[in-house]
Amino acid sequence: MCPPRLHGFAIGPSLLVLSTAIACGSAAPSALRTDGSGAPDTATTPRQPPGWDDEIRIPDAVDLNPSPAIVEVKLAAKLASYDFVSGGPTTVWTYDGHVPGPLIRANVGDRVIIHFTNNLPDATSIHWHGLRISNAMDGMPGISQPAINPGESFDYDFVVPDASTFWYHPHVDSAAQVGFGMYGPLIVEAPREPAGLGDEVVLVLSDISVNADGTLMSEDTGGDLGSLFGREGNVLLVNGRVRPTLKARPGLAQRWRLINAARSRYFQVALPGHTFLRIGGDGGLLAEPVTVAQPVLAPAERADLIVVPTGEPGTDVVASWIAFDRGFGTAFNRPPKDLFVVHLEGEPVAAQKVPDLHRDIPPLDLGTSGLVSLTLTEDQLSPIELGINGVPYAASQPVMAHVGDTQVWEISNTMDFAHPFHLHGFFFQVLSPEGPLEWKDTVNVPVGGTVRFAVKYDDRPGMWMFHCHILDHAEAGMMGSLMVMERDRN
Ligand code: C2O
Ligand code: CU
Ligand code: CU
Repeated sequence: MCPPRLHGFAIGPSLLVLSTAIACGSAAPSALRTDGSGAPDTATTPRQPPGWDDEIRIPDAVDLNPSPAIVEVKLAAKLASYDFVSGGPTTVWTYDGHVPGPLIRANVGDRVIIHFTNNLPDATSIHWHGLRISNAMDGMPGISQPAINPGESFDYDFVVPDASTFWYHPHVDSAAQVGFGMYGPLIVEAPREPAGLGDEVVLVLSDISVNADGTLMSEDTGGDLGSLFGREGNVLLVNGRVRPTLKARPGLAQRWRLINAARSRYFQVALPGHTFLRIGGDGGLLAEPVTVAQPVLAPAERADLIVVPTGEPGTDVVASWIAFDRGFGTAFNRPPKDLFVVHLEGEPVAAQKVPDLHRDIPPLDLGTSGLVSLTLTEDQLSPIELGINGVPYAASQPVMAHVGDTQVWEISNTMDFAHPFHLHGFFFQVLSPEGPLEWKDTVNVPVGGTVRFAVKYDDRPGMWMFHCHILDHAEAGMMGSLMVMERDRN
């Protein structure tokens, strides 16, 4: 049974019922998300095959709060046992015993309360990646809160202002803890979206490093060189499973919300014979959707994709990982690997028209903006020390700004490896290299390249982190802080 879970943005009684059905299960076709024109004609509405996402779907977090505008969840970090390899079980680090952790779903404007308990052998915290929430809820130990020790609890409590695909993960010893399985999805839904975006499935892409007997490889495998390359797991996971199957009705659109939750691995995704319509990214919908052949997600990036699986009923198409050259031979001699199977089933349907998805994203006004110049640096090889502007995080001074300021950040990369640069707490607009107009919180800075982005600080003062999201690099020192001060009173 599914707990009742109503949402505050529904307008009339019939819509309230509909949004309950959507929160509840897999079978609700997106055609139900109409804007009040009445219930769809179920006899003629084509559906995905029965149980289409049963093998792959991430369990929903249980909302304990009857209020439609509050999502209240209990979450515990704890060890659990998974079977990834035939040689033996793997003791993973999890949220609630699941890799990935439960799917937390809310509507824009909802209050989200997470009663978190740490039952791990180590201290931890939860960072809500990409969410524009108050600094006190950012999950950065020693800055926004104390680390949560084994046996301790902490309540996260915030309002979610933006619709998009987000995720959560620890910010203590993050390379190790994320690498051991700690990450989960958080979806914030727009109050209303056009019908026809496809049946949604959230796909958390990751990997894990396990020995032949199933035990976890130690977090520092490969020593300094391991840190320099960034440790990629030897087992690829899609929603915590090895090569799971997703069923699809030929011709019927699906909406794949992809999250790269890997500690260091980039995901370039191919589905032979298919292209994707990328409608969104880190910070919600793009200004205009773009067609992509093989979407690339650097660590921590998200992609909101519409795909129309086609092919003979009864056949399979395999979504695969394609090596992405992130520098220093990282794509050399690495054949594609299977991610998951798309099994076609049922009578093909004629492809439907994707609704118009224009979104107004006004480019930030750069009139009075200040410039922040950062260079990502390799300061020392042994013991390894990476940094920003030649200093590791521990020795760094914060970048300073005021509420209301707009800044242009110029991030240069002098290393032989690419770096996915992430800023906590604020979305930015990439100015160059030129791409689709969208809000982002993580951007790849290629080898020898420079990325410029603009960011405007809304009224959430505090100390915010930025770092490379190859978490091995962040742990090696490639991290810094941004102090957003209250506006001067003059
Ligand atoms: Cu996913 Cu400090 O971030
Ligand atoms: Cu973050
Ligand atoms: Cu890096």
